[in-house]
Amino acid sequence: MDFDPLSLYTATPARDATSFASEPLSSKVKSPPLKQSEALGSESARIYDDICNDEENDDMVPLHILDLPLLRLQPPYAVLVIILKLMAPDEVLNFERHPYQQSAKRDEDTIFKEKAVSSNQLQEALPWLVKNSSRLRTPFQLSCVPHLASALRSNFTNEYNAYMTRIISNELSWLNEKEKEEIHSLASLRISENCGRMAQPQLKRKIQLAHLEQYGRKYIFLNEPSMTNDNLGLKTWGSSLILGSRLLREGQRAPLLQTPVLELGSGTGLVGICCCLMGMTTTLTDLPQIVPNLKKNVELNSLEANSSCVELDWSAPQGSPVYGKTFSTIVVSDPVYSAQHPYWVVNMIDLFLKSNDSQNSTPYNVLIEVPLRPKFENERQLLWDLMSENFTEMESDIENGFDDFGEMKFCYKRFVRK
Ligand SMILES: C[S@@+](CC[C@H](N)C(=O)[O-])C[C@H]1O[C@@H](n2cnc3c(N)ncnc32)[C@H](O)[C@@H]1O
Repeated sequence: MDFDPLSLYTATPARDATSFASEPLSSKVKSPPLKQSEALGSESARIYDDICNDEENDDMVPLHILDLPLLRLQPPYAVLVIILKLMAPDEVLNFERHPYQQSAKRDEDTIFKEKAVSSNQLQEALPWLVKNSSRLRTPFQLSCVPHLASALRSNFTNEYNAYMTRIISNELSWLNEKEKEEIHSLASLRISENCGRMAQPQLKRKIQLAHLEQYGRKYIFLNEPSMTNDNLGLKTWGSSLILGSRLLREGQRAPLLQTPVLELGSGTGLVGICCCLMGMTTTLTDLPQIVPNLKKNVELNSLEANSSCVELDWSAPQGSPVYGKTFSTIVVSDPVYSAQHPYWVVNMIDLFLKSNDSQNSTPYNVLIEVPLRPKFENERQLLWDLMSENFTEMESDIENGFDDFGEMKFCYKRFVRK
């Protein structure tokens, strides 16, 4: 016998769609959800119904794929677009998705604005939802979708991906071409976001660090394009957050940083951006394919005035615009993940750090932060061994932190020329 998911619910009479037009959004549609007890026939169904009957609890009842619009009912464009936008993951704060449930409760209008859901779309979608959905029938219930969706994504990954795949593979013959294209691309995005950071589409990361406000900022913003090939510099790595925090925390403690500063392998630029914020004239460098996004991030944080972003390939430094210049501080975060990297990085430090100078009583620092990945223990040791030939280690510290892949320990070292 065919299972009809809709049979779980008993239909309620549709409300007259025209009655939505004149009311403010938040006060619209307070009709109770459909009863499930008959279909489920259990104690848990009764408890579920009791919770659902109290609209204020909608943010606690787990969302199920069956709560989403059924494609065979040909949901209109506005319904699909709203649901797909509300299912988008929240912005990334440091290395975590913004924890909705732990944050202060946001009002519906704020949530719809953040998810780019317009009031016109809501007005168009609600009549259909009232008629065809048991769970998502009011602005309040819809505003609960973003924080409920993360559990749905992680606990029912296959069902979630299958729902999105059904949308992508459906002709959506009741929509026009433009609408169809938007719905298909939103559904594809929702799948790719669910495939781990390496397969994810572009994201904007918001970085919050202690002491940032001392430098006139609440956040640093970093654009991260979708990863292509193995361009690791298109995403932000945990050690840059740890080194950036240290710079801001100890920044007042002269002489950690002296201007001008050179950053090697800047990636998305977090460490260099912290140096700029602290008033240092900073040159951020990386491979040619990484520099355009690096520039974009410096612009995103309005720091073009005291910085430049240029190409510097450690294996061929002669081609770089900085070749021949020297710097008072060199900062490097997470530069070692192949056998040649330790040799190249130490060569670059030797090439670009100013020589000791009898007139300057403050030594020129090299600040290095590396994650303690077990896989690269030999390369890390080689880096320290090579550094010890011409540089003296002045400080060393181990700290706990995070990146997109979980908890990690990081090692910080400060060196000066011998
Ligand atoms: C693991 S990422 C770290 C990025 C950034 N420092 C961070 O911590 O988020 C390593 C960086 O080194 C850069 N890199 C690797 N090989 C390089 C080379 N030969 N010349 C210049 N940069 C290189 C990569 O492009 C990437 O940005």
